Amino acid sequence: PTRIKKICCIGAGYVGGPTSAVIASKNPNIQVTVVDYNIERIEAWKTDDLPIYEPGLLDVVQAARDGDSTKRTPNLFFSTDVDRCIAEAELILLSVNTPTKSLGRGAGHASELSYLESAVRKIGEVAETNKIIVEKSTVPCRAADTLRDVLAATAKPGLHFEILSNPEFLAEGTAIPNLLNPDRILIGSLKTPRGLEAAQALAAVYGAWVDPDRIITINLYSSELAKLAANALLAQRISSVNALSAMCESVGADIDEVSYAIGLDKRIGSRMLKASVGFGGSCFRKDILSLAYIAESLHLFEVADYWRSIVDINEYQKDRFTRRIVRCLYNSLSGKTLAVFGFAYKKNTGDTRETAAITVIDNVLTEGANVRIYDPLVKESQIRQELNSTTVRLNCAEKQLTVCESAYEACTGADAIIILTEWDEFSNRDEPMRRDSGHGRKTDERAERKLDWTRVAELMRRPMFVFDGRNIVDAAALEELGFRIECIGKA
Ligand code: NAD
Ligand code: UDX
Repeated sequence: PTRIKKICCIGAGYVGGPTSAVIASKNPNIQVTVVDYNIERIEAWKTDDLPIYEPGLLDVVQAARDGDSTKRTPNLFFSTDVDRCIAEAELILLSVNTPTKSLGRGAGHASELSYLESAVRKIGEVAETNKIIVEKSTVPCRAADTLRDVLAATAKPGLHFEILSNPEFLAEGTAIPNLLNPDRILIGSLKTPRGLEAAQALAAVYGAWVDPDRIITINLYSSELAKLAANALLAQRISSVNALSAMCESVGADIDEVSYAIGLDKRIGSRMLKASVGFGGSCFRKDILSLAYIAESLHLFEVADYWRSIVDINEYQKDRFTRRIVRCLYNSLSGKTLAVFGFAYKKNTGDTRETAAITVIDNVLTEGANVRIYDPLVKESQIRQELNSTTVRLNCAEKQLTVCESAYEACTGADAIIILTEWDEFSNRDEPMRRDSGHGRKTDERAERKLDWTRVAELMRRPMFVFDGRNIVDAAALEELGFRIECIGKA
């Protein structure tokens, strides 16, 4: 079987970076180079101030990238020399972005494959030897056929390109433990001798640290679809629970108790059942819309509607949460000040793509509120950029917006606190604080701090409201301090 000695990963983002780092750290004999056209990103990967925050990532990167004078030589590299790195590698991981299309047919629904297409055109152009090409990006069904077609038209005659599907299942904030101990590794290939041989070559790379029982080799198109299906089912659980949370608020039930009771059934399980202000992140929305678009293009309209309803409930949940804020604050936010705790789409990441915070903040700005945002990790420029396409720009609401350096600064003079990210810092419960290793940013020390809610109470206007979009606070304890608490799915 083919033994891989050089891997080139195209795309140095949230998937390409951590995945390549783990592959390199577990395969000291394989040279792994991550390439990207984004020079800034590549340069940052070469420093200790990595372009993405992920607990434990720096340790893994440093071990493989910087080596160790006695034990190992460096085998993880970052480069903008895309052509050379493609030409040298036997196996190429495609980890480029596949966002929702913004122009033309399928805009707002279908996946944009142009980044993938251009990466593959480049492979066709520069390859001098056979390659195994791996779809690590999440792609629509039969994207492999598109890639094969592009290669057939652009590559030198006589070369062979085997396309594999190897979707990534890591979740941000836990990428390193997810990669080190995956539930499964999915490898989809054609059932031809060459397809199966390529699948075995990739399986051997993962075999360096993953139990063979967890490495599943299946049909190429099953693998492509399984990734979209997995994300749709995960998001479906959250939308189901969020839909129930609306009922809880009316019937006097508690969604955390309902989720707990449901999750004890082993057939259901307890994870991904936490009610929230709504799911965010770069994957769920786009992948469900892509799945629905594929169904629609197959004339399966009922199927498309079914999947789309998951996204609809998520939009409903974000709006419902805002309506509750307005109602509790006596139906007017005009001239009121709201402290927003958290902007990232979940804790332990600096990623803000599709964060529910964008919708909620946009809504309350439209109502005339002054908004003071604090997030332990996300920079002011990134927050402003995310909000730029919403009310902030359209209504010149910039003067209503302040980005703060601390939670205390944010809640000074505020009428209400809106918790949008479940950072440990904001909870008044006594959970053990996990020390995130290996990341030198000052934000780490900040994230380990616990908020002094007594001090928060001294800084706010009366009456003091807390709208907990993550159900992370101990409401009874805060009520003793004089706060009025509104949680998701609790009357
Ligand atoms: P990202 O935007 O963080 O990174 C993609 C990188 O690819 C960017 O740095 C971009 O500059 C680079 N790129 C694009 N076209 C290129 C080209 N032709 N040549 C060289 N570089 C190019 O995206 P991401 O979050 O890492 O996601 C990548 C893929 O993985 C997507 O398909 C996504 O759906 C999937 N995925 C993401 C996650 C996640 O948690 N973010 C999890 C599983 C799967
Ligand atoms: C998701 C999938 O989990 C992962 O397998 C896939 O590879 C990429 O997409 P990610 O988006 O990084 O990962 O994070 P995830 O933990 O799934 O959370 C997504 C969103 O749902 C976040 O906004 C999170 O706060 C929210 N969420 C998650 C809930 O509201 N309730 C839950 O119970 C779990």
